[in-house]
Amino acid sequence: MNSLLKFITCGSVDDGKSTLIGHMLYDAKLIFADQENALEMDSKVGSTSGQIDYSLLLDGLMAEREQGITIDVAYRYFNTKERSFIVADCPGHEQYTRNMAVGASFADLAVILVDASKGILIQTKRHTRICSLMGIRKFVVAVNKMDLVNYSQEEFETISDDFNEFAQGLNLEEVIIIPVSATEGDNLTNKSANTPWYKGDTLLSTLENADVDLNIADSKFIMPVQRVCRPNHTFRGFQGQIETGSISVNDIIKVLPANEEAKVSQLFVADKETNTAFAGQPVTVCLDREIDISRGCVLVKDADLKISSMFTASILWMDNKSLVEGRHYLLKLGTKIIPATIMEIKHKVDINTGKHISAEGLEKNEIGLVDIFLSEDIVFSKFCDVQAMGEFILIDRISNMTSACGVIEHGLRRATNVVYQKTDITREIRQNQKDQKSMVLWFTGLSGSGKSTLANEIEKRLFALGKHTMLLDGDNVRHGLNNNLGFKEADRIENIRRIAEVAKLMNDAGLIVLASFISPYESDRRNAREIIGDKFVEIYVSTPLEECERRDVKGLYKKARNNEIPNFTGISSPYEAPQNPDLQINTAGIDIAEAADILMREIKKLL
Ligand code: ADX
Repeated sequence: MNSLLKFITCGSVDDGKSTLIGHMLYDAKLIFADQENALEMDSKVGSTSGQIDYSLLLDGLMAEREQGITIDVAYRYFNTKERSFIVADCPGHEQYTRNMAVGASFADLAVILVDASKGILIQTKRHTRICSLMGIRKFVVAVNKMDLVNYSQEEFETISDDFNEFAQGLNLEEVIIIPVSATEGDNLTNKSANTPWYKGDTLLSTLENADVDLNIADSKFIMPVQRVCRPNHTFRGFQGQIETGSISVNDIIKVLPANEEAKVSQLFVADKETNTAFAGQPVTVCLDREIDISRGCVLVKDADLKISSMFTASILWMDNKSLVEGRHYLLKLGTKIIPATIMEIKHKVDINTGKHISAEGLEKNEIGLVDIFLSEDIVFSKFCDVQAMGEFILIDRISNMTSACGVIEHGLRRATNVVYQKTDITREIRQNQKDQKSMVLWFTGLSGSGKSTLANEIEKRLFALGKHTMLLDGDNVRHGLNNNLGFKEADRIENIRRIAEVAKLMNDAGLIVLASFISPYESDRRNAREIIGDKFVEIYVSTPLEECERRDVKGLYKKARNNEIPNFTGISSPYEAPQNPDLQINTAGIDIAEAADILMREIKKLL
């Protein structure tokens, strides 16, 4: 056989994961003699009984030893006569669920550890659900510490029944449940005399015989382009790793999303020229004609991939900040990274029962179904069809941390049915008629900072210069277009999105737009800039909170301090100050005419 098995081990803290794998390797004589000696020495220091502590074998990380828990995904490689293995040993603590998801996305099989004396825990269910979400269909449940329950068949069967009942809703292909003891070595590499009632295989032979043949070799050719290689004028190659299938010189391939065809003229694996290349290999593909191809395009043969800017996906939320509808992230799928918005949280999943619960947000470690809209079309697949083209991560745009990982359930079709209508009278023509350049002057700042007064004053001055303008103001827009929105985070996100779209339309009409909104979230202002484009001018009215509160023109701060207004910006809801505004003005201590003078000097340069 000698194929490769990639598996993951999951368990709660103290379930004995490291010990389990360590002991299995030791019994199978898969460790070197000097390691064995070191192990015996180390164990004498650490344990009172002087017995070998097999977990030390797997403790690759210093910090892990110090803390006594596995803190990162550690990949280990080993071979038996039958097979090669890579095991991702993942942390058990709930705060490390993200690492678990990473490990699961790489594996074909999961070994779930259950402590026989504790039974199925919420963590067991969480881990199993995440593994299933990430596409694992084969599970081995190692019911560990059987020695602690006197190798009781009854206890084992209760746990087996519990697990099978829980797993029913998960669409798993195979679940094999084995009674083991990681410390004593029962049923790891040899059948144990302590469990004569157990008729199945040992853990090692179960792993050696697990059938995870994914038919990668004969499936359709898919290669996301990672890099365009142009060492000189004559050579142009597209580099990437073949995800599935194989490719040969003279094959006709299709380039997505452009949907153009070309013939493969040359092929290289690493730097060696070749005739055919296979899944998993890093290749350079040369084509017989010039096609506009960049990173994120996908080369395919016979593969039916989708192209859209919208899809529905299951995600595992991994961020400390909860997910709110309307938030913007970067989405990385294959080799493509593009801006994405979570438009709707359809439901979240109860970890215990699998039930769908309606939700306004997702908290860390929760799984939910969401609709995601992208800023442009991408090439993808349903996760169940082609894993590599159906899994993605969401990246926080400010911290650059991974906020979620997800899998695509299905595409949404609207984008393909709505086309952009070109009109003959363009924005340029409309601007020229008015003899001006359209733009959006976006005033952001706390309530009472002077945004609206300033915007009003600037509009008068622009009007006096003969400019065609329009002022959009928070309080006013909330009386009409946005009268269904409040001040919760999701509402504010939608408020700003709509304003940005309206401002853009007005820009297209050739107008200079003044927008005055608290717009407290950095990511929303960034989104507004993306919607509006390079005509977006961010003006930060940076009057400090104390001054705004002292003025309290509308009496709102007083009410907010008396807890009469929930989510009041600056008091009970955050204001994220712009880091690099185009213009900035603090209105404390100067009058409005003076402040407008200062701003107008800069604005005139942009007109
Ligand atoms: S934003 O945060 O979504 O950008 P927007 O600028 O539209 O807010 O509206 C702010 C105005 O609504 C404030 O000037 C204030 O008069 C009023 N308001 C009422 N409740 C709140 C609140 N909880 N937080 C901030 N402003 C509020």
